[in-house]
Amino acid sequence: MRINLYPGTFDPITNGHMDMINRAVKFSDKLVIGVLNNPSKVPFFSVEERIEMIKEVTDGLGNIVVDSFSGLLINYVKRNDIDAVIRGLRATTDFEYEFQMAQMNRKLYSQMETLFLMTKSDYSYISSSLVKEVFMFGGNIEDLVPEKVIEYMKKKLNN
Ligand code: PNS
Repeated sequence: MRINLYPGTFDPITNGHMDMINRAVKFSDKLVIGVLNNPSKVPFFSVEERIEMIKEVTDGLGNIVVDSFSGLLINYVKRNDIDAVIRGLRATTDFEYEFQMAQMNRKLYSQMETLFLMTKSDYSYISSSLVKEVFMFGGNIEDLVPEKVIEYMKKKLNN
């Protein structure tokens, strides 16, 4: 059984992430979506909220498990028998950081395998941070995130 891990911050999950998930699930017997719990950053959504949202928007897409992790990615990979980590490349600007991470992860754990998928061009300009900024200033984020996520964002803002 091939278990792949798609890790990230997902604050919040975007249509770019959804594209990756839809494609990655096709070559995974099980796809684990790993939400990073980073206590040194103040996120818009808590880890629990992010997990809940991801579960809702990925329901019915295939064998997907949503989990959180903290600390080093390689430790999660080792503990959970992950075959490969999947990351998206939106543009050449992503490449340097991703290349550095993949190399560092392999240095820390020689069996670590990172697979890169190129984001569809329709989504290549989308990032969670820009989505939050556009939303905060009242811009339209309809084509950027799943509808459910917009509901969560509105609710969060009104609380
Ligand atoms: O969606 P993001 O924020 O680009 O995801 C980055 C993520 C979570 C994959 C990366 O920050 C990560 O793996 N963090 C865990 C800590 C770790 O292993 N750091 C060393 C990486 S070389």
